Amino acid sequence: MKSYTLNVNLNQFKVEVAEEALLLWVLREHLGLTGTKYGCGIALCGACTIHVDGQPMRACTLPVANVAQGQKITTIEGLSQDGAHPVQEAWIEAQAPQCGYCQSGQIMQAAALLKHNAAPSREEIKSYMNGNLCRCGSYMRIVEAVEGASKKIAGT
Ligand code: FES
Ligand code: FES
Repeated sequence: MKSYTLNVNLNQFKVEVAEEALLLWVLREHLGLTGTKYGCGIALCGACTIHVDGQPMRACTLPVANVAQGQKITTIEGLSQDGAHPVQEAWIEAQAPQCGYCQSGQIMQAAALLKHNAAPSREEIKSYMNGNLCRCGSYMRIVEAVEGASKKIAGT
């Protein structure tokens, strides 16, 4: 076992876990942040997408040791204080989710896209979101939601 200090959603947490522990399970089982989902466990579906210093990462394959040097980890619970992030609002307006299982990962991926490209083309959205799978096939609504969030950011 090893002790790590993690910066998650602007709070410091001390956890004692196996040295090779993966971030997804530390978030879910030690910090109770269950919005980050387990899908494939091999970085292929995007259900576990979180941000590390603003970059989207797959928590299911990310050793906690790699993000315990003060990196800023953001989960779906920390994306906004009150669910008022433009991506979250646009998601609701577009009624993007079906079962919802993949959607926190989708939202985190979309938020990362819009952070570095606030006005992506439809092709850029599809390309950036390509690794986030949805077994319910909500892909078109997700594209529309990202476009809606982009408009909100632009204030149009
Ligand atoms: S659970 Fe992490 S990418 Fe699928
Ligand atoms: S909404 Fe069901 S898996 Fe995406």
